Amino acid sequence: MSSSTQRVVLVTGAASGIGLATARRFAADHLKVILLDRSEGVHAIAKEFEQQGFNALALVADLGDVEQIQRASETVKTMTGGCDILVNNAGIHPKRNGITISLEEMTLEDWETVFRINLTAPFLLCQKFIGGMKARQWGRIINVTSRAARTYSDRAGTHYSASKAGLIGMTRKIAGDYAAFGVTANCVAPGQIETPLARTSDPKVLANAAKTTPAGRLGTADEVASSIQYLASDAAGFITGAVIDVNGGGFIG
Ligand SMILES: NC(=O)c1ccc[n+]([C@@H]2O[C@H](COP(=O)([O-])OP(=O)(O)OC[C@H]3O[C@@H](n4cnc5c(N)ncnc54)[C@H](O)[C@@H]3O)[C@@H](O)[C@H]2O)c1
Repeated sequence: MSSSTQRVVLVTGAASGIGLATARRFAADHLKVILLDRSEGVHAIAKEFEQQGFNALALVADLGDVEQIQRASETVKTMTGGCDILVNNAGIHPKRNGITISLEEMTLEDWETVFRINLTAPFLLCQKFIGGMKARQWGRIINVTSRAARTYSDRAGTHYSASKAGLIGMTRKIAGDYAAFGVTANCVAPGQIETPLARTSDPKVLANAAKTTPAGRLGTADEVASSIQYLASDAAGFITGAVIDVNGGGFIG
């Protein structure tokens, strides 16, 4: 554990959707929660947590910028001594006019932007914090991938599916390499979840996604957060390299 007896959890993309729901669960568990986002909104959320008697810290950083990742990681180390639980949740799925960008229309810039945030930033953050976890012989890495990396999705861009599949590969490698040090690395793979990200899709597409999901509805951010919370717990200490599908039966592997 870090300098205090309280575990420190870093949640990226904590200003919205799944990240915010996850941060709320960890705060309620009385962990020290670091809310990282490019949105200034994390300040108000951290303040709200503090007012509720929870321990929270807001960090504004753009995960598309390597220097900002470096600075944010140093701040976490200086202010908390390290990070016991890393939740790489921030992710993007840019569309054009609400429509998925086709392979033929995808520019190299589209591709690289998605990879930078969905895969390179988690790689850099894992690299920053793995040493501390290894030294403390306890750590949890939870990477938020997607159903679009588990099976074909007509709604997902090629860049998005590929970056999220890369995240699974990276997680499995880390899981094997660090299992002997008390560190687990796992993924959660949400199906269509009702969040601001999902609302960038055409409403008709979303309605169809709900209809074609065996559960007959979209998921909630908290339903994903609860799986992340479980993977971060001591109870999940023997689970590593796994992908938990949270998708209402939308993909059954
Ligand atoms: N919502 C879904 O249906 C769904 C499905 C599968 C996977 N996911 C994945 O779940 C994760 C969370 O998605 P969500 O639906 O909660 O999205 P969201 O858009 O509601 O929240 C994402 C958060 O990440 C932050 N963020 C984005 N880019 C950033 C950057 N460069 N630097 C720092 N912060 C950044 C945003 O500001 C936002 O607060 C993503 O990785 C997404 O790919 C979501």
